[in-house]
Amino acid sequence: MEMNRRHMLSLLAAGGTATALPGLAFGETPADPVFAAFEAASQDDPWTLGFTDAPADGFQSTARRLHGRLPSGLSGVLHRNGPARFSRNDWRYRHWFDGDGMVHAWRLDRGSDVTHTARFVQTHKWQAEQAAGRFLYPAFGSQPPNARGLHGPDDINAANTSVMMVNGELMALWEGGSAWRLDPDTLDSRGPRNWGEGLGGLPFSAHPKVDPDGTIWNFGQAASHDMLVMYQIGVDGQLRRADLIHDIPGGMIHDFAVTDRSLLFLVGNLAFRRMQLPFLDSFGWDDSRGMRVIAIDKGDWSRRRTWELPPGFLFHVGGAWEDPDGTIHVDAALSDDSEVATGHARDVMLGTPRLEHQSISRMRQITLYPDGRAEQAVFSDVCAEFPQVDPRYTGLARCLTWHVGWPDGHMRGATQIVQRDVISGQTRRYDFGTDIVVEEPLFIPSSERSEEGEGWLVHTALNKREAATELHVFDAQRLEDGPVTSWRLPYACPLGFHGCWRDL
Ligand SMILES: [Fe+2]
Repeated sequence: MEMNRRHMLSLLAAGGTATALPGLAFGETPADPVFAAFEAASQDDPWTLGFTDAPADGFQSTARRLHGRLPSGLSGVLHRNGPARFSRNDWRYRHWFDGDGMVHAWRLDRGSDVTHTARFVQTHKWQAEQAAGRFLYPAFGSQPPNARGLHGPDDINAANTSVMMVNGELMALWEGGSAWRLDPDTLDSRGPRNWGEGLGGLPFSAHPKVDPDGTIWNFGQAASHDMLVMYQIGVDGQLRRADLIHDIPGGMIHDFAVTDRSLLFLVGNLAFRRMQLPFLDSFGWDDSRGMRVIAIDKGDWSRRRTWELPPGFLFHVGGAWEDPDGTIHVDAALSDDSEVATGHARDVMLGTPRLEHQSISRMRQITLYPDGRAEQAVFSDVCAEFPQVDPRYTGLARCLTWHVGWPDGHMRGATQIVQRDVISGQTRRYDFGTDIVVEEPLFIPSSERSEEGEGWLVHTALNKREAATELHVFDAQRLEDGPVTSWRLPYACPLGFHGCWRDL
């Protein structure tokens, strides 16, 4: 393990050094056209609020109640994470995923007002760039002027993708490097989490999965080596097992699924070609063969099964389960191309989305048979992202997935919260209309013994007309009635990616 780790890190570091731009002398940097384009777009398009820099000191305020009351029994903190710093020294990142991570804490406590606190994760990158007043390092999709070489992935760790609670500690998750430890109450940063000897700084994805018994599974991808790092972590937050999994084709893998017996990877067709900076340029579309699906045995990581689907791309998986005969069922938000990653996520930095880069991912229910056959049903009613399941059913047979939705051709974010029965295809939904950009909904069970889907959906949203971020709570069984209570901040936060719920 130690040899492999050193080998991997040295290659990453060498790649960074070799391909960093030679750089102009500081002070000679020409005016940045991307920075100027976004400034112009933000004059008259309130959607750009979702991609505007947050204040370096973060946010803190009480939200104003718009209607309704917090349901009795719903008491907790919604933590969320997302990129929130995109420009320094009048130079703007080229890709949405590059922004430094800001972690939010929305505190919902019955009888009290909803409060909101948000702070930037104090990564080494954030601290160095804050002190320098400019970006110092290459990012996932950007190469700032005068960028330095890399010594390891955590040099550029943006800690900007998700959050999770592990044994009482909050962690900000990226995917190319370490999870970053935070105090869940103050959001103070405590530094990178090293899971064990030889594992410091290795990739750790933003989408860990938690079994019903509390076991945490996660992976990190080293696409340039056709390799994954697998992690199994106990409910006590201590590493149980970690190892390298070889011969995983280097299509970009952002999320995965678990069943009670398997770890399931859908490998899209945005494939690694050769190491370049920015790192995203290392990938190119390759549909010379299908999308690979790989199931790895939880108990024996050397045992695997594979399937092939038509070419495609995905960020997010809903959930999976496995029948006694080994048939696996999984749903995911799949698209036929990777324009959302390579086009749309760049457009948003310019402040001008383009129709040819629109995101048209749709939920699909995929069945993987033991004899190698694979089938999929496409739910084409609406574009979809950020699928979520009832967390008690992770890896188990279930019916429901919740996700955000938007109509074809609408390029300024999701407008709908959708509940989908993945067996029957039936949906319930609420459409906020085009003034609202809906963010990921989390399902919170109303009690430990409630049925699947008995509980609340909690999500944030950007209200473009009011230039403010809102929090909405739904009764998950009466989605079409609209939120049972809604709260609004006196400011707009940048749009984020993922969150977690912490009971109080
Ligand atoms: Fe994600």
